[in-house]
Amino acid sequence: MDRVYIFDTTLRDGEQSPGFSMNLEEKLKMARQLERLQVDIIEAGFPIASDGDFEAVRKIAQEVRTPVIAGLARTHRADIDRCWEAIQSSARPRIHTFIATSDIHLQYKLRRTREQVLDQAIDAVRYARTLCQDVEFSAEDAGRSDIDYLVRVIEAVIEAGATVVNIPDTVGYCIPGEFGALIRTLRDRVPNIHRVILSVHCHNDLGMAVANSIAAVQNGARQVECTINGIGERAGNASLEEFVMALKVRPAALQCTTEVRSEEIYRASHLLSNLTGMAVQANKAIVGKNAFAHEAGIHQDGVLKEARTYEIMTPQSVGVPENKIVLGKHSGRHALQQRYESLGYAVSAEELDRAYKLFTKLADKKKVVFDEELIVILDDGLKHVPESYSLKFLQTVGGNEGFGSATVKLSHGDQIVVDSAVGDGPVHATYNAIDRITEMPGKLLDYSLQSVTRGKDAVAEAFVHVQFAEGNFTGKAASTDVTEASARAYLNAINKALVEHQRREQVAHAGMTRESTSPDESRSEWGV
Ligand code: KIV
Ligand code: ZN
Repeated sequence: MDRVYIFDTTLRDGEQSPGFSMNLEEKLKMARQLERLQVDIIEAGFPIASDGDFEAVRKIAQEVRTPVIAGLARTHRADIDRCWEAIQSSARPRIHTFIATSDIHLQYKLRRTREQVLDQAIDAVRYARTLCQDVEFSAEDAGRSDIDYLVRVIEAVIEAGATVVNIPDTVGYCIPGEFGALIRTLRDRVPNIHRVILSVHCHNDLGMAVANSIAAVQNGARQVECTINGIGERAGNASLEEFVMALKVRPAALQCTTEVRSEEIYRASHLLSNLTGMAVQANKAIVGKNAFAHEAGIHQDGVLKEARTYEIMTPQSVGVPENKIVLGKHSGRHALQQRYESLGYAVSAEELDRAYKLFTKLADKKKVVFDEELIVILDDGLKHVPESYSLKFLQTVGGNEGFGSATVKLSHGDQIVVDSAVGDGPVHATYNAIDRITEMPGKLLDYSLQSVTRGKDAVAEAFVHVQFAEGNFTGKAASTDVTEASARAYLNAINKALVEHQRREQVAHAGMTRESTSPDESRSEWGV
């Protein structure tokens, strides 16, 4: 059986989409989990897009040693140089350069002729090969490109030294039979195609990204670009977990294998949701809350008699934790550590200390603590930003009529500051009181609250997306009290904005002119 290489672009195509931005620490954490998942290639970012992107790619290249680390670059020498600067310390660097090949992009976006684009592609690949042994070329919008021109471009970039050629369905327009046929045609008509790995990159605008990727593999593609939870531009990219499990569950039909460790899928999905605050829909294949839940009586009966009646794969095969009640208020540090280990989390002594503090608080309020809650408190304890402001006390009053009010006490350095405010309800009032204290009012772009497990005493996770003068920032926090979770999530976003504020002040002091912005802001002109 042939191996299909899994190229994960969660940290590039995924991260550039609204609401999914991550800071350096978060990207590094995600990259480490992708390494545990054993993806073959991690596309770590777009180094020329901002200083933040550059730093993240550089750090991942230095620290994540097993997979190939790719950086994205347009077909400009400045992009390629910046990309190489970021990835060169990787054990296995790859420059990924791209230019559009469809007439609609040439005419309206690039305003270049086919000959000019062809020359630019050749020049970029040739130049990239002077720096790096491994160079991937992508023909953006290949799915809508003229086939004769596409064949010419691909033959030429292979001649110029490309080692991987990627065929994106950039706008998610293709349908499986057609996309498979495109891959077959390229294999038949590009004379030197056997010299490269043929890759595909499918977007999900019509919900067909995974189906198109499968059709491509059936017609000879051997690298598939995809993302955890299917995140990415607009409707997203092909979902890694769906594609990988299709290979694992149907090897005979697809005649291909992958080295990905499917038991790490759930952790990767959960980590991404936790880092970005974007939950997956309950009925999402493989990683949704309901993916292994059997509700109908006939189904439950069947599963109890023989799981294979209604289960084509086991929850264990994708690493879903068994839903066991594990710990309570009498459990000690050691038990907590062991439980984390058995859930697959390597926890440092410092992380365990913080998680244990939160665990004892939680266990005091609840009789039993579920595995899912343990995972949430572990993440909640890992503050990825310095806590300039932290919540010391919160009291709210609400009701079904009239205003809510809140009194908030925050610590800020060695000061304790208290203020009160009213609002439409207790959360609104809390946010108003926090704004009065911090004097950096944020505009709430998005807010969500999710219960982590069941029961009236379940832990709730609050996620916010807030606009400040410094840019847009996400925040998250967990608590059995929804108002407290909401307050701490908002403070988490404020603390991130303050880090950016300080960074900008330092840059201004140092007299540097290169302007890097918050992750969300920095992208608009670079998005691909
Ligand atoms: O969708 C696309 O075409 C891309 C390329 C840069 C690979 O993301
Ligand atoms: Zn894309």
